[in-house]
Amino acid sequence: MLRTHTCGELRNTDINKTVTLCGWVQKTRLMGGLTFIDLRDRYGITQLKLSATIGNTEGYGRECVLKATGKVIERESKNKNIATGDIEIEIESIEVLNSSITPPFTIEDETDGGDELRMKYRYLDLRRNSVRKNLELRHRIAIETRNYLDKLQFLEVETPVLIKSTPEGARDFVVPSRMNPNQFYALPQSPQTFKQLLMVSGFDRYYQIVKCFRDEDLRADRQPEFTQIDCEMSFIEQEDILQTFEGLVKYLFKTVKGIDIPTLARMTYADAMKNYGNDKPDIRFEMKLIDFKTVTGGANFKVFDDAEAVIAICAKGAAEYTRKQLDELTEWVKRPQIGATGLVYARVNAEGTIKSSVDKFYNEDALKKWAETCGAEKGDLILVLAGAEERTRKAASELRLEMGNKLGLRDKNKFSCLWVIDFPLLEWNEGDPNLLASLAGRWHAKHHPFTSPKPEDIELLNSNPGAVRANAYDVVINGVEIGGGSIRIHNKNLQAKMFDILGFTKEEAQKQFGFLMNAFEFGAPPHGGIALGFDRLCSMFGGADSIRDFIAFPKNNSGRDLMIDAPSEISDEQLKELNIENIIKKN
Ligand code: AMO
Repeated sequence: MLRTHTCGELRNTDINKTVTLCGWVQKTRLMGGLTFIDLRDRYGITQLKLSATIGNTEGYGRECVLKATGKVIERESKNKNIATGDIEIEIESIEVLNSSITPPFTIEDETDGGDELRMKYRYLDLRRNSVRKNLELRHRIAIETRNYLDKLQFLEVETPVLIKSTPEGARDFVVPSRMNPNQFYALPQSPQTFKQLLMVSGFDRYYQIVKCFRDEDLRADRQPEFTQIDCEMSFIEQEDILQTFEGLVKYLFKTVKGIDIPTLARMTYADAMKNYGNDKPDIRFEMKLIDFKTVTGGANFKVFDDAEAVIAICAKGAAEYTRKQLDELTEWVKRPQIGATGLVYARVNAEGTIKSSVDKFYNEDALKKWAETCGAEKGDLILVLAGAEERTRKAASELRLEMGNKLGLRDKNKFSCLWVIDFPLLEWNEGDPNLLASLAGRWHAKHHPFTSPKPEDIELLNSNPGAVRANAYDVVINGVEIGGGSIRIHNKNLQAKMFDILGFTKEEAQKQFGFLMNAFEFGAPPHGGIALGFDRLCSMFGGADSIRDFIAFPKNNSGRDLMIDAPSEISDEQLKELNIENIIKKN
């Protein structure tokens, strides 16, 4: 080893030891005839003290790599902000292991580097405490996940990365095959079919911390390549999966964050949509969506009378909102992303009187009914949206979250976890931009095509497919979908029926998924599973909104890696070898 200690470990008890440290120069200060250097490595910072006799300190610029040997001494002015702040090293010899040009941004917790620059020089960004800590947290969560699952006999099995493209789900990333002209592999969107085949093989408890790839529109909580804690179990029912993975979530909160979280609430999909307008409700705060259609009817207010849905929320203690704040909120709900046409409000003043923005139509008595219906008391603000059902519910859900933010109800250090259960098996695809256009105007599996309908709903598959509920569940923390899974179909005929409902011909189903249906003929056990979004779990534990800073080398919102400049064109020679030269030239 070039060093005897790290830059984070020396204390008072080490005084008088001769040590050798290696690290990067964080800062150099000249004071009198002395030079002080803050030397940094992954573990911390230690102050080096150099007298003029040691050599020319000008060579020790920011981020150059030093090896320094000297004696640990007590510091005259102690630094309470760092763990090594009681000591410093009186340097006897120093060697520059490598020089550094000036970094493009400061390597500090609060850096002056913008997003693009940080991504271009991600290896420097990763030297910063804040980003490094995120990766340490990620490591800890991975270790504890493995500990928990290993104790329960789960076996980590790797599944292939070059697989077959299927039109279900999001879009695939595809890889041309040189040895099989005109044919392509796809990168897995998840190891779903493989983990089911492992159940057929009798592995009975599988897990994998695994990369998945989806070519979909990106957001703060979505990356084109991301990681799942992917799990599957045999000879279980839904309740067993909920118990096992509730156990994992609790174990991770306890071991990684030292927090005891209570038993997870359970909410049906139908209730989540009704009360929160959202299948991943943030239940750190109440402010439920209240159906206002009946209470607002009969007042000749056309906006409400003509609307399919009128939905209110009650913002506790927000009656003091000024006209300006309410105008801003109105503009906010009218943004295309939210999509409301306007916002009606009513303030319950401190004296108990109620003033609304639609006083012309609603007298004090009518407004009192509003207040009663949504439980508004003195000091509360009622906000009402109206319009088409789905759109209004979605807008009300967004408004609820925004008010939650504004009223400080979404504390990042508070965690509310729940299961959302009884998802619909199917949803009608009007033209989801994340799916292939050819799938529009068809039923689409809400979770995936291998999810089992609830046995009591199977009869509805022919008559009313949209009403069939699935044995599917999501784990939601603070309004983020952390994971999802289901009990699977393990019967060949039911699986074939499912493909039929999804619009596959028999031949297409056989071609795409014949391997799975064939496997189901060889004694497939009842099975089910779940996958947790590992990056999302890490950013949740780290109190961040974006998963990017919990991934060592992430992509930006256009799916680019700015550091290695990918994706990129490839040479004509490569195109030729891959036999895709002609396909590309045609376009
Ligand atoms: P699902 O598609 O719900 O289920 O994915 C499981 C979890 O993975 C995370 N996730 C993502 N994280 C970051 N970027 C993305 N683009 C992204 N997409 C999904 C989410 C999500 O809850 N095979 C099934 C699981 C199963 O049925 O067992 C599956 O992949 O946190």
